[in-house]
Amino acid sequence: MKYDFIIFGGTGQQGSICARDLLESGYSVMLVGRDKSRIRNLLKNKKTGFLRVDLRNESEIKKAIKKSHADIVVNCAELVFNVPIMKACIKTKKSVTDLGGLQKVTVEQFKLHNPFRKAGIINVTGCGSTPGIVNVMAKYAVEKFDSVDTIMLGFAWNSNIKKFVVPYSMQSIFEELTEDPVTYHNGNFVRERRMTCKGTLNFREVGKQTVYCIVHSEVYSFSKYFKEKGLKKIHYMAGFPEHSIRVIETLINLGFNSEKKIRVNGAEIILLDFTNKVLKRIQVPKGYKEAENLWVSLYGIKNREKAKTEMNCIVKTVKGWEDAGSNVDTGRTISIISQMLKKGMIKEKGVFAPEAVIPYEPFFKELTKRKMYVYDNGRKIN
Ligand SMILES: NC(=O)c1ccc[n+]([C@@H]2O[C@H](COP(=O)([O-])OP(=O)(O)OC[C@H]3O[C@@H](n4cnc5c(N)ncnc54)[C@H](OP(=O)(O)O)[C@@H]3O)[C@@H](O)[C@H]2O)c1
Repeated sequence: MKYDFIIFGGTGQQGSICARDLLESGYSVMLVGRDKSRIRNLLKNKKTGFLRVDLRNESEIKKAIKKSHADIVVNCAELVFNVPIMKACIKTKKSVTDLGGLQKVTVEQFKLHNPFRKAGIINVTGCGSTPGIVNVMAKYAVEKFDSVDTIMLGFAWNSNIKKFVVPYSMQSIFEELTEDPVTYHNGNFVRERRMTCKGTLNFREVGKQTVYCIVHSEVYSFSKYFKEKGLKKIHYMAGFPEHSIRVIETLINLGFNSEKKIRVNGAEIILLDFTNKVLKRIQVPKGYKEAENLWVSLYGIKNREKAKTEMNCIVKTVKGWEDAGSNVDTGRTISIISQMLKKGMIKEKGVFAPEAVIPYEPFFKELTKRKMYVYDNGRKIN
């Protein structure tokens, strides 16, 4: 069978949300992963297929793409696989979307700009909520400024029931909270000291929250695309509610994020794999609802006067998508951007972040259709 899309990481949180959105938009999807326990319902749909692939076997990636006959590759797998998946896309001449690569992987991804351009394909990197929605909101706002001095951005979320559920990939969260964050100051990337670069902010729909500087790809891509506006400072801040960050910090302090092997009853296992397996079993409690505020604050000069703009995207648990919580803003957003590629709405070839190529009007309209609302200084757009 020829599928419209192939989704690597199709068994994960974001991949399965993306698959459902694509199916509901009328497309067929080949899902790729190792453990299909979380997608049994999706696989009942006749427009889905499943391939078991361990992405550490890089030659299998190209084979899977060929087997699916899909036009567009959607990469929702762990970010360590972004570059190998991109290399397979160059060989098969398929365009690809992904969910971003923090700082190190993003830098490696942009090195493939020319091979992508020569192959006549595109990689849009960072197509979720953040990176993703925030990048397009920043582009929308930047255009209205004469010059921009500082951009602060990030996410904050909370839930009605204060129980721990896995917010998104624990592997990425552990990396984000243990690697020293990178900020941008006067043309240089600066390594900050972890957990000391923090503050308390008040967020609409979420409330007061402590936010921490973490390493994220927007610091890199904004510095690249908004340079001509005089941008001097970029800070990325993450906000987890108290009941969630407490559990994450405990896991880190106890070493459950370690990639070291341990021996249990004679068998060798990687501690992080064990942690992931255990955490995957956590169910979303009945009646559990989330609200997330994706935010970008810009400071600069507008019409020759000092100005500040605040862009927000407010996302709440949507009826019928309860298990996805606020993750709809990542899984459904990569579906929107992948559909834009399939419809030929993005013509550029090479490697780009969303702020460089996504037309914001149709994009915001698609978000609104899915109950994700964008605000410009408190005024709803669309
Ligand atoms: N841009 C954004 O807004 C945003 C937001 C959230 C997350 N993310 C990123 O999106 C990515 C996925 O996050 P998630 O929340 O969906 O995490 P998740 O639920 O843990 O999913 C991870 C996926 O990667 C797959 N995977 C891992 N190792 C693999 C291997 N060796 N071979 C084959 N597949 C493998 C998993 O497959 P199996 O389970 O079948 O092994 C699973 O499908 C992460 O890199 C995360 O940083 C981005």
